[in-house]
Amino acid sequence: MSSWALVGFGELASALGGQLARSEHVDEVRVYTRPPGDARGAQALQARLDAVGARTYTSLAGAIRGADVVFAAVPAAAAEEVAAKIAAAADHHFVYVDPTPRLPKEKEEAAQLIGTRGALYVDVAILGTVAADGFAVPMLACGPGAAVWEAEATQAGLIVTLIDGPPGRASLVKLLRSIYMKGRDALIVEMVIAAGHYGLEEAVLESIPASDERLDFPQVANRIICGLAMHAGRRADELAASATVAREASIEATLATAGAHRLRWLAELGLRDYFHRERPTDYRVVLSAIESLHSGPVGP
Ligand SMILES: NC(=O)c1ccc[n+]([C@@H]2O[C@H](COP(=O)([O-])OP(=O)(O)OC[C@H]3O[C@@H](n4cnc5c(N)ncnc54)[C@H](OP(=O)(O)O)[C@@H]3O)[C@@H](O)[C@H]2O)c1
Repeated sequence: MSSWALVGFGELASALGGQLARSEHVDEVRVYTRPPGDARGAQALQARLDAVGARTYTSLAGAIRGADVVFAAVPAAAAEEVAAKIAAAADHHFVYVDPTPRLPKEKEEAAQLIGTRGALYVDVAILGTVAADGFAVPMLACGPGAAVWEAEATQAGLIVTLIDGPPGRASLVKLLRSIYMKGRDALIVEMVIAAGHYGLEEAVLESIPASDERLDFPQVANRIICGLAMHAGRRADELAASATVAREASIEATLATAGAHRLRWLAELGLRDYFHRERPTDYRVVLSAIESLHSGPVGP
């Protein structure tokens, strides 16, 4: 039996939290989340928290106190700040799970920081999305706390595979894989915007066979574009990190760099705020939002 503290309560923590709370191997799920910026955001957050039934905290130190597992479900851009705050508040032995897709050296630094407080760091790579796979999304884990966490997480029903190597090795797999996965996102968004310009988006989407996907291609594109309306910024960060990893292997990373530019452009339109952080369900709504937020040629 273990007690889990989820730090951040966005898409990932919301999806994992409910199932963890129902697991007979988890005796408590706590959530720390920042106060939302507006009333609509507060309402949506409360609905997600109610669905999980976890105990919520407005103090980070309170949420992690006595927890066996601290799961930092925050964007990569916030990971360093959040790790520092957790390290400062830590006063007991726990496993720190970091699922952010960041550079191996950043993960090693985080592991060192967390280790100085007597906690065990786990570098986790989530190989998919909870939007598509829910609790069954596969994860790779490495680092000093990986074996301990894998045992806890597997009991709770998560699908975790251990990988040898220092912290950052699991993330390296994720970043290399993202050259394809997030590069594909960037290609799809460019294609659908261009096709939408000619009123041909349905014809173009229907024309692509679902060769290696479990869903029809229109469904795949719908899922990706709706997901990008929320997460284009962090996917751009991830693809840029993929490009760095490729460059470090003396590969020019032309496609990964271009894909990161395309996703950054999309993020900077402000779709996340436009949709009040609620994931749209139809790509056509996203296309209309892009049209109204953007004037001039489709950059970058
Ligand atoms: N969702 C997935 O399927 C998936 C798959 C693979 C990897 N991941 C990784 O898992 C992490 C979480 O993903 P997500 O989908 O849950 O992201 P998300 O929906 O954007 O949620 C992020 C959460 O972190 C909070 N947060 C942001 N900055 C913070 C800060 N400085 N201090 C405290 N809390 C902060 C956000 O609060 P506000 O709402 O106040 O900003 C929100 O609750 C990311 O690193 C992502 O790359 C997710």
